[in-house]
This record gives sequence, C-alpha cells and structure tokens, in this order.
Amino acid sequence: MKFFADTADIDAIRELADTGLLDGVTTNPSLIKKAGRDIIEVTKEICTITTGPVSAEVVATEHDEMMREAEVLRKIADNIAIKVPLTKDGLKTCKKLTGDGTMVNVTLCFSANQALLAAKAGATFISPFVGRHDDVGYPGMELITDIRIIYDNYEFETQILVASVRNPIHIHDSAKLGADVMTAPPEVIWKLFNHPLTDKGLEAFLKDWESTGQKIG
Ligand code: G3P
Repeated sequence: MKFFADTADIDAIRELADTGLLDGVTTNPSLIKKAGRDIIEVTKEICTITTGPVSAEVVATEHDEMMREAEVLRKIADNIAIKVPLTKDGLKTCKKLTGDGTMVNVTLCFSANQALLAAKAGATFISPFVGRHDDVGYPGMELITDIRIIYDNYEFETQILVASVRNPIHIHDSAKLGADVMTAPPEVIWKLFNHPLTDKGLEAFLKDWESTGQKIG
C-alpha cells in the first residue's frame, strides 16, 4: 500500500521522505490555507521533494473553469495529479484530463456509487473520506470494503486512495482491505511506530548491553 502525506507542510513532507515512507502527497484548499503559502509555490516545492503523485485541487465548480485551473496546475510538474470534486462537472473534467494523459484524483467521495461513477470516468485515484464518514456515525471502512469489491468485480484500474485518515486503525484496516493508497497527516503516520513493548524491549536490550561493558568498534 502506498503512503501519501496529506499536508502542504514542507518540513513534515521532507521528514517523511527522509525515512523512505513517502510515496506521494495530497493537498486540498483547507491544507493550502493551513500552510499559509501560495498554492503554486508550495506545490512546486512539494514536487521537488517527491517524484510520486502530488494532488493539487481545482476550486472552480464549472467544467470550463476547472479545465482552465487544471492547465495552470498541471504545468507545475509532470507528477501533478489534478484533484476534482465528485460532481458532474468534476467527472466531466476527470474524463477530459485522463484522456489527455493527466492523473486525476476524484475527491469528496462518500458512497460506493460515487466511486463507481469516478471509475467509469477514468479516475486515476478515488478518495473516499473515511474519517468524515465515521464522524456522522457511518462505518467509514465499510465504504472501502464496498468499493474494493465493486472495483475488483469489473477490474477497474482506478486506485482506491483512502482519505480523511485520522488514526493508525484506519491505516491498518485500509491495508487489510487492499486499498492501493492511503493519505494521512504525517503525525498519524508517525503513530504507526508506537508500541510499548518495542520501547520496553529496546530499553532492556540497552540496559543489558551496558552491563557487558562492551563497545562495537
Ligand atoms: O484528503 C482529504 C483530507 O484532507 C480530509 O481530512 O480530516 O479534514 O476529514 P479531514
């Protein structure tokens, strides 16, 4: 399963890249606002850190304007994936862009039927938001289960990119269900390392080693 960082924080992206855990990046208008930087400049800098897909979202809601914005965004780098919302105009734009060879990440997906529409429109990635599903009392991971079944039934090439990931359980369950990608805030990815028995075991190893009085080299 690929790991994408769901952020526009350059330092956080670089730290993940340095550990070999970065396969791509996703941003959205809220993450650009949080970064406090110009969308073109920060996206350009992100593309210098990873050669994996970097999702940059259009903010227009009409097809022609979406295409205009997509033209601006895809000129940033070859690894740009254009993010469009799961709307009629979004899928019309998706079909046009993927037809021209541009990666498209269809976002704000909240049902398997929506994911089916995105696959038929040729989406490169579909972003079902599991955390927001959980927030309103629906089991977000069941959405991933259903999409995986439907996509496998028809051998759709659209990659399931689990989004709105809030905790390590979302990542664990996404991997078990066979999602292609998950995108998460870096702080959630770092939590994957946490286990008290690892800490305890390392402490015991180091204590025993210290008692040997030895050094390696
Ligand atoms: O990629 C979508 C993600 O940024 C949304 O996450 O936590 O705002 O639902 P969240």
